[in-house]
Amino acid sequence: MNNMQQEKLPRHLAIIMDGNGRWARERMLRRIVGHQKGVETVRGIVDECSRLGIGFLTLYAFSAENWLRPKTEVKALMTLLKKYIKAETPRMMNDNVRFNIIGNRDDLPADVNRAIDEAIARTTGNSGMVLTLALSYGARQEIVRAARLLSADLAAGRVTDGEIGEGLFAGYLYTAGIPEPDFLIRTSGEMRISNFLLWQLAYTELYFSEVNWPDFTVPELHKALRDYQARERRFGRTSDQLQKRS
Ligand code: FPP
Repeated sequence: MNNMQQEKLPRHLAIIMDGNGRWARERMLRRIVGHQKGVETVRGIVDECSRLGIGFLTLYAFSAENWLRPKTEVKALMTLLKKYIKAETPRMMNDNVRFNIIGNRDDLPADVNRAIDEAIARTTGNSGMVLTLALSYGARQEIVRAARLLSADLAAGRVTDGEIGEGLFAGYLYTAGIPEPDFLIRTSGEMRISNFLLWQLAYTELYFSEVNWPDFTVPELHKALRDYQARERRFGRTSDQLQKRS
């Protein structure tokens, strides 16, 4: 099945996966069942993005603020993440996917970090889609961390005042080396950015789906991508200027 036009696909797609809890509540199920179902959706969407030839897929799997959830839910999410990473590594190898993490890894349990290290090491030579999970991630924290790293380099004389610009600063973010997202999808009808990639989303096209994450199927992804393909990205220029350039 391939009813997607291949040209004009986003090079980098970012997704805020929201609505697992509501999906479960609507069915009188426990929240964790919603997360389990959410993992199945992750599998389907990762496969399809890789098949379509999307270069970079970034998924918001656990925010810095999610640590405030009940202990049992946090524990269950960490277990699900570890299982997902371990179970999916062979498929990543098969599909030439490179695994990557952004966020504060110091906060993560040791067993999750071990699974991450293994998946990164095994997939490091892959040249297909880069799959990035945002884990214990917050964009403001990322920006402050970048400022700290940069000021340490300044103090040590590794960087001079005059060199500081947008490009140099971006190199201190977790996403160094990854292009900015072209398209952001958030599911479950919430219209917020929630501390996700604040620097990187400056020119990103935004899409809000009413569907809860466990129900975000491949046809829903295609619908979102067709919406993206119909948009004109101007980066502050006029339409006329863009036509003259092409
Ligand atoms: C939002 O739903 C979802 C999360 C906080 C976690 C996302 C995690 C997964 C999809 C499963 C694990 C991920 C991977 C990559 C294996 P919510 O709980 O905020 O839903 P609600 O807003 O309806 O309560």
